[in-house]
Amino acid sequence: MTEPRDFNPALGRPELTSQYDQVIAIMTRERRWRSRLLTALAPAAGETIIDLGAGTGSMAVLIKEVAPACRVIGVDPDPEVLAIARAKIEAAGQQVELVQAAGETQGLRSGVADKVISSLVLHQCSQTAKEGLLANAFRLLKPDGRLLIADYGLQRTPLMSMLFRQVRALDGYENTRANKDGEIPELMAAAGFHDVAELSVTPTPTGSISLYAGTKAGV
Ligand SMILES: C[S@@+](CC[C@H](N)C(=O)[O-])C[C@H]1O[C@@H](n2cnc3c(N)ncnc32)[C@H](O)[C@@H]1O
Repeated sequence: MTEPRDFNPALGRPELTSQYDQVIAIMTRERRWRSRLLTALAPAAGETIIDLGAGTGSMAVLIKEVAPACRVIGVDPDPEVLAIARAKIEAAGQQVELVQAAGETQGLRSGVADKVISSLVLHQCSQTAKEGLLANAFRLLKPDGRLLIADYGLQRTPLMSMLFRQVRALDGYENTRANKDGEIPELMAAAGFHDVAELSVTPTPTGSISLYAGTKAGV
């Protein structure tokens, strides 16, 4: 018997995880939104960057390509997706720390990160897990640290709402509701982040993906 999971796997069903990278490339205009996230992140040598819900390690690999001298920690609860990430990171000849844990767990030291990112994760999480992940991102950041979230956001047109229904069917109508209603910025502010802003919106074949930023105020 398989153990019950308390997380949603990368494509909603575990048997689809091995196809994750191919599906995301076609169905999300991946290059567009990942490059926007990377530009906003502006990784620099010496920084510690944590990726909550790192999945197959795509962001970790891109970050290390542009800033090999930063420390990247990828966190994900799914051992299967972490195995794919490990293989990609190894093939790229990079050093990335991978931690098997949910984004809301307290395993890593408080204030360790200059920046935290999370991409395509919150729409898969329950409301409690969303709030827990954002609270944990706040805890992990140093003062003046920055959080960047790329995920499905407010679906502003009937076409985008219709396309996003594909994701809702896979990842659950309740999990995806706060995203489609544009509530992620409110949840970021409720977790303590200041200057919360939507930096860009990328229309895709599965709905629009928003890039949100927030800052942990300095002390
Ligand atoms: C759609 S994938 C996105 C992966 C990656 N961030 C990307 O940009 O391709 C969502 C990931 O979130 C992970 N996940 C699900 N629930 C989570 C949670 N509570 N905390 C952290 N990660 C979670 C899944 O295991 C999966 O790898």
